[in-house]
Amino acid sequence: MRQELTLTGHALPFAWFMERALYDPEAGYYEQSPRVVGRKGDFYTSVSVGPLLGELLGFQFAHWLAELPGPEILLIEAGAHQGHLAADLLEFLERYAPKEATRIRLCLVEPSPRRRTWQEETLARWRPQIDWFTSLAELRARHPNRPGILYANELLDAFPVHRVAWNRSHQHWQELGVGLKDNAFVWQPLSTPSLEAVPGLEQLQQLPVELLAVLPDGFCTELAPAATSWWREAAQSLDAGWLVTLDYGLEAEEFLLPQRAEGTLRSYSRHRPGGSPLQGPGTQDLTAHIHWTELQREAESVGWITEHLTRQRHWLTDLMSRTLKSPTRFPNWDAARVRQFQTLTHPEHLGQAFRVLVQRRDAR
Ligand SMILES: C[S@@+](CC[C@H](N)C(=O)[O-])C[C@H]1O[C@@H](n2cnc3c(N)ncnc32)[C@H](O)[C@@H]1O
Repeated sequence: MRQELTLTGHALPFAWFMERALYDPEAGYYEQSPRVVGRKGDFYTSVSVGPLLGELLGFQFAHWLAELPGPEILLIEAGAHQGHLAADLLEFLERYAPKEATRIRLCLVEPSPRRRTWQEETLARWRPQIDWFTSLAELRARHPNRPGILYANELLDAFPVHRVAWNRSHQHWQELGVGLKDNAFVWQPLSTPSLEAVPGLEQLQQLPVELLAVLPDGFCTELAPAATSWWREAAQSLDAGWLVTLDYGLEAEEFLLPQRAEGTLRSYSRHRPGGSPLQGPGTQDLTAHIHWTELQREAESVGWITEHLTRQRHWLTDLMSRTLKSPTRFPNWDAARVRQFQTLTHPEHLGQAFRVLVQRRDAR
């Protein structure tokens, strides 16, 4: 990265830095070990809490699968990492919705050959039922115009973001890039912004003048065109069905609250906030809150209807109460399940910051 910056001779967008820090095939953070995610890793997700998330999703998916027509239904996951969520789901469906389980073709979208091998290992038992794709485009080419369910947990917060700061004296948003000083990575304003045609920037530039008048100099936020366009592509990859994403994120106006003046970009290492995002690329996780309003809008613009955009705890609590009314279609709520449920829904654990977006499109 240092060599690339030296050769270029000027700062580059932060999205360039984040892409390499997380996904460089050799040195990228997500290429290092499957165990960066999980209780013993740098951070844990709703999947590392235990199989309950997969079971609750499986309970919901069984109902949706029954509504979708055709002998084979696509179940698509992206960002599966080690494949545990898919394994929890398939195991649940096999036991509690066996008829629907036989109609599933599991499609894992995974650009990294290394992560694919981790997934192959975890999911070895279901191998004949699974296809891997390096991109959504490849999936669409193989399975055009199909109904299905696409789901992702904590995928889009790991997509590269651009960072912009409000320049009060010039009354415009300035993109912050990454440059080199004394061989260390430093923030540097970009003289040629890389973001001219990005819808998110247009919206920031068109904020009401009353709001811009009080926005402090240097107020930072992120733009995530890669996540937004990925979600639009996801919406175009299924003819009908459901799109579900669980993650931490904010709606448009929440990004501009005073407590967000530093933006939402964060680094994590060993369950704790890490150092500067520019420190030690490849050694710490980098993440930014996802922009729910934009995701919602993207899928709606290609014909999807938003069924829910709500806190994870509300959605999962509703699912849990439905499982209690169908006790033969869900495992016993034993102590271990109840503990996992509390972790997934308690506001001090994963229940507050995490939300879920559920969108639906009926067959045309
Ligand atoms: C924060 S981890 C979440 C892992 C897992 N879903 C979980 O909840 O434990 C994000 C994962 O998304 C993967 N990822 C990032 N960009 C991706 C893309 N374009 N397609 C598929 N996976 C991607 C990363 O490699 C990483 O495995």
